[in-house]
Amino acid sequence: MNKENTKEEVLKAFNFRCACKEFDPEKKISKEDFDFILETGRLSPSSLGLEPWRFVVLQNKELREKLKPISWGAQGQLPTASHYVILLARNKEEMTYNSEYIDKMMKVTHKIPQDIAELRRNRIEDYQKNDAKMFDTDRGVFDWACKQVYIAMGNMMTSAAMIGIDLCPIEGYNRDEAEKILEDAGILDKSKFGIACMVAFGYRLNEPKRAKTRQSIEEIIQWVN
Ligand SMILES: Cc1cc2nc3c(=O)[nH]c(=O)nc-3n(C[C@H](O)[C@H](O)[C@H](O)COP(=O)(O)O)c2cc1C
Repeated sequence: MNKENTKEEVLKAFNFRCACKEFDPEKKISKEDFDFILETGRLSPSSLGLEPWRFVVLQNKELREKLKPISWGAQGQLPTASHYVILLARNKEEMTYNSEYIDKMMKVTHKIPQDIAELRRNRIEDYQKNDAKMFDTDRGVFDWACKQVYIAMGNMMTSAAMIGIDLCPIEGYNRDEAEKILEDAGILDKSKFGIACMVAFGYRLNEPKRAKTRQSIEEIIQWVN
């Protein structure tokens, strides 16, 4: 495929993607297609390569029903989505520079020697404390982890749209209550994770009611030459 064709394909996918409010309950995404979407999440970049995510694919009907009353933004999506993903982010304890998780990431996943890992930990400490001032608020470190999770979410949404799969990102829920439901069900370990966001995937039941609205390029781009 040449570059111009690729650009056309990508823009077609971006125009096709819309916030799907209700999916066709009869249409299921194939395992191969859904694995592809998850793989683009897995391959996503993250700050310092720390991958502070876990993707919970919630296929359990009862649990989706339990989430519905506290998810004002997912009323049509929760019962109809072929696949419903809850994106978890690692919490402050997990993502603070001297955590066991960061140590494991450096040693096991990144395969960095001990002395280099030590230097890197110092760099992360300085970054978290002084550059990004993540400890100034209680949510600072968790919010930083959530930002990384949103990158993976963006990539999964784009890759789904590229293969004609519909989706809707979901922030419309009460986080405390959603976490309690998942914790009670033994799905969420709150000592390690919190909910960052959710995404519903499937095939649209109806075409969007309104055409896409966006600001113009001139309104949002500032060139500095
Ligand atoms: C982080 C995020 C959270 C969102 N949460 C919801 C939601 O809870 N329910 C919903 O129906 N749409 C939700 N949306 C969809 C937006 O309303 C939608 O993307 C926006 O209005 C632009 O429309 P479009 O996606 O159809 O182009 C969310 C979008 C984003 C990016």
